[in-house]
Parts: sequence; C-alpha cells; structure tokens
Amino acid sequence: MENSIEQIQDDGLAELETAADGDAVNEITVKYLGRKGIVTRFLRNISQLPPEERPAAGKQANLAKKALEKAASRALERIAALEAAAVDQLDVSLPGRPTNQGTLHPVTRITNEICGIFARLGFDIAEGPEIETDYYNFEALNIPKNHPARDMQDTFYISDNVVLRTHTSPTQPRVMEKQQPPVRIVAPGKVYRCDSDLTHTPMFHQVEGLLVDRNISFGDLKGVLTTFVHQMFDKQTSLRFRPSFFPFTEPSAEVDILCVMCRGKGCRVCSRTGWLEVLGSGMVHPAVFENVGYDTSKYTGFAFGMGVERIAMLKYGVDDIRKFFENDLRFLRQFRT
Ligand code: PHE
Repeated sequence: MENSIEQIQDDGLAELETAADGDAVNEITVKYLGRKGIVTRFLRNISQLPPEERPAAGKQANLAKKALEKAASRALERIAALEAAAVDQLDVSLPGRPTNQGTLHPVTRITNEICGIFARLGFDIAEGPEIETDYYNFEALNIPKNHPARDMQDTFYISDNVVLRTHTSPTQPRVMEKQQPPVRIVAPGKVYRCDSDLTHTPMFHQVEGLLVDRNISFGDLKGVLTTFVHQMFDKQTSLRFRPSFFPFTEPSAEVDILCVMCRGKGCRVCSRTGWLEVLGSGMVHPAVFENVGYDTSKYTGFAFGMGVERIAMLKYGVDDIRKFFENDLRFLRQFRT
C-alpha cells in the first residue's frame, strides 16, 4: 500500500475543510468512502497483510472512516450556514435588476403604420385565411387553371384545391361576396411563396387594398396611393406609375417611388435606376366583379397590394429580408422606441 491510512485521512480532512459546496462534499465522500473509495479499498486489502498487523490496521482504517464521515457532515453544516448568511446580506445600494421589455416586431410596426394611414383615409381592415382555396387565390381573381399567369407565383399546394395563399388578393372576392359597394378595405396578412434569397422569404407579409364605388377612376387610384407614399415616407418621395399586368386588374400599374436612399441619383439599392418598385395596382377587372355578382355597369374600383418587408427595408435601410425572421435580439432591439 502506497499511502499510510493516516496520510489518507489527513488528505481527506483537508479536502473537506475547503469544499466550496454540497456537490464538492459529496464528491470527496465518494472518493474516500464510496464503494471504490480509497479508505474502502484499504479496508478490503487488510486481509493481505501479515496476520499480526491486521488488527491495528483495521482499527486505524475504521477510525479514519469515522473521522471523514464526521468531517463531511461538518462541512455540509458550514456550507449551509454560509449560504444562509449570504441571503441575509441584502445590499440595498445595488442597482435594481432591469426587466426586459418586449417590443413590436418591425414588420408588425410597419403593418400597423400602413393600415393606420389607410384607416385615416376611411378604409376598414379586413382579413382572410392563410390556407386558401384555389378558387379564391386564383380563379375568382381571373387566373384560370393552367393559365400561364400562375407561373408568376410559386405556390405551396396543400392538396389539388387548397394552397397557402400566394398573395392577400383573395381577400378581395371574399369581402365583395359578402357586401355590396361601396367597399373600402385594406387587408394585411401573411402570404407564402416557394422562394428564398436576399430579397425573398417563403413567408412574407402583404397589405392588400380595395376600393369599389360608383365613378371610381384611375385618378382616384393615383390620388390615394400618392397620399399613402407621402405619409409613409415624405412629400419629396415622388411616384411613377408603370404599365404592368395582373390578371385581376385592367389596366394594371406597378408603382415605383423615388429611391429613398439616393433620391433618384442611382445607387446600389435601386440598381442605379433611381426608382424602387413598391407595389402592384390597377383597376379591378370586370371579370372579378362578375365572379362576385357586382353590376359592372354601375361600379368600378381599384386594388393594390404591397410587400410589408419591402417597405420596412426601405424605411429602415435593411439590406437582407432574412434579418426580419432570424430573431436576433441585437437586430430587433434597434426598433425599440
Ligand atoms: N397580388 C399582387 C401580387 O402579389 C399585387 C396586386 C394586388 C396587384 C392588387 C394588383 C392589385 O403581386
């Protein structure tokens, strides 16, 4: 045997005296007194000693065992007393612990801001389901099955006739089916497309707009959207209406705004064109009115749809759409007011 039992006992006692917490005491106890502990092994090996040495060695080992057991319980008492004292020592001069306050997500804030502007112009808020039928997402909007326009939007299909909506436009026929004109609504919500890169995420947000009444003209569309852009950005942000195509509007126009970064000089954000595309719009196609039973000889209307993340990126100068969905608090905290 390498160490004398006295030496083993002294080592164990010293370790217990400096043990910092209950776990350390337990570890030391196992190390010395456990089934494979040092003292236990010593006791087991006594049978190999010469017979005349056995009684004294056995006695010593049992004393060591008792001493260590006692020291372990003393160590536990010492630690408990220390912990109790620490609780009593309340330092009232310490600064308080701050509670973390949550904030609205930037996409929620911009959605609220967009809807707020239209609400003040007299629009109501409407909502539709994210899991949508093929009928409302496409057919009611004048996009028949097998129509090439379906290629414009990469759709997630749930079954043959059920999709994750690719835009908020299905809210248009859903609202019109339930009420006669005048209709004035904006419909915010999540939309889904099989798409993913710097400027596209498979889920993103749109705000749809629809206004139907007698004598609504393209001039009304321009007036409302100009007011919106001036309030969302500022009065210096001019607009450009570019002819475009959507199956559910005719004529259709894509709306560009003067680049908010370079004010038209041309920069990386606007791909040196000086303009940024922000929304799709147009006069509601008569076929859409017919699908919901509106009298096309009496009513006309306009519709528009915009991407919320797109507006948020321009307003806050964010260059990667994915940042909105990574939940990095360092990013999100910047939108705290
Ligand atoms: N739904 C179209 C899109 O997602 C946008 C749009 C809405 C265009 C309403 C015209 C009218 O691209």
